[in-house]
Amino acid sequence: MGHSEPRVAAALQPYWMPFSPNKEFKAEPRMVARAKGMYFYTAEGREIIDASAGLFCVAAGHCRPEIAEAVHAQLQTLDFTAPFLRGHSKAFELAQRITEYTPEGLNRVFFVNSGSESVDTAMKMALAWHRAKGQPQRQLFVSRERAYHGVNMGGVALAGMVNNRRAFGVGLAGVYHMRHTALPQNRFVKGQPEHGADLAEDLLRFCNLYGGENIAAVFVEPTAGSFGCLPPPKGYLNRLREICDQQGILLVFDEVITGWGRMGANFGAQAFGVTPDLMTMAKALTNGAQPMGAVAVRQGIYDDIMNAGPANGVEFFHGYTYSAHPASCAAGLAMMDIFAKERLIERAAAMSPRFIDAIHSLADCPVVTDIRSVGLMAAIDVAPQGAPGARGHEAQKRLFDSGLNLKSTGDALLVAPPLVMEDRHLDEIVTKLRALLRQL
Ligand SMILES: Cc1ncc(COP(=O)(O)O)c(C=O)c1O
Repeated sequence: MGHSEPRVAAALQPYWMPFSPNKEFKAEPRMVARAKGMYFYTAEGREIIDASAGLFCVAAGHCRPEIAEAVHAQLQTLDFTAPFLRGHSKAFELAQRITEYTPEGLNRVFFVNSGSESVDTAMKMALAWHRAKGQPQRQLFVSRERAYHGVNMGGVALAGMVNNRRAFGVGLAGVYHMRHTALPQNRFVKGQPEHGADLAEDLLRFCNLYGGENIAAVFVEPTAGSFGCLPPPKGYLNRLREICDQQGILLVFDEVITGWGRMGANFGAQAFGVTPDLMTMAKALTNGAQPMGAVAVRQGIYDDIMNAGPANGVEFFHGYTYSAHPASCAAGLAMMDIFAKERLIERAAAMSPRFIDAIHSLADCPVVTDIRSVGLMAAIDVAPQGAPGARGHEAQKRLFDSGLNLKSTGDALLVAPPLVMEDRHLDEIVTKLRALLRQL
């Protein structure tokens, strides 16, 4: 209890923190001052290994000089231009570079500023495409329980997380949720579980109930991320693809977390061998160094919307002031160079088996009730104690205090380190996790 504490607390009051227990944080703040590579540092110089890549963003490690220099140079050359009716070369170049990683055919790219915006943008694209194709009645959406699709009104309606909805009224109508795929038979499975492909039949049930011809799109995360790493059961995504094809429904993969190497492949689409019609992305696209998201779509979708538009008028009435912001494009291009030069995605794929084995070695801690994993992402469930999520939250705070940063969701601890992680970092992460799990 320092003499200056009331003053410090007052200084923390004006900032309304997102997705945080504001009162608790301001009473016992956990601040970071700088970061480098795999580590955060506090103002006092305490080192904290980053086991969740910030928030699944920092694939190439923190404070990459190549990105900082590219953004700095960009802001001195062209800081801003309207993205409507005006262009700058880096936007076109980055779109092209992104299509070198997306599945074949998904080669038209729309820029936004966040994952949430990419989701709502993809919803509008789906509606606009069906209208362009003469099927304006397709206005329903299907998604899944335990999904996270950001926090804008469309994404909240799609998402399947009760706390993100309950304070905000009725939201969007016409969104139906398939069951989640977290089955007890799949506990402690490494990678894609065997059980649960049949849960994709929920989509067919909605087609039969509401008319498949009324459904615009199905949104799924290839692996549910924020909720706690739920890799798709074998055959599940393939079956969704089949039903979508039969019913003329667009399949959208929300790849905001799963994109850019996290699954050990470019995107979840390639990791699981199923190609969607649209995919969202954000986070690692700029290594988290600038806010940016994107939607990649099948060329035919873009062409149909262009062809349905007027000869000299706007074809798609959507976009943000900061779409394709020059500084974000510069960061994205620098990140594309890092992906190529350091073969980060291949690196993640090579590291994945060691990572998965190491995290699953924690299964012998009595407090651990399940571990799920794929690529360089894993979730460790701890047995609840008190209110749901209380123990996970406590664990996350104690881990930070012992020098490890990660995100918790409920009672799940999410491990998703930067893709540049080396064996010694993995050892440090597992040692710190084990020490904490033993104490819980
Ligand atoms: C799958 C998915 N979609 C959308 C979002 C929202 O992204 P943002 O927080 O950048 O708006 C997230 C964020 O974690 C996500 O995991």
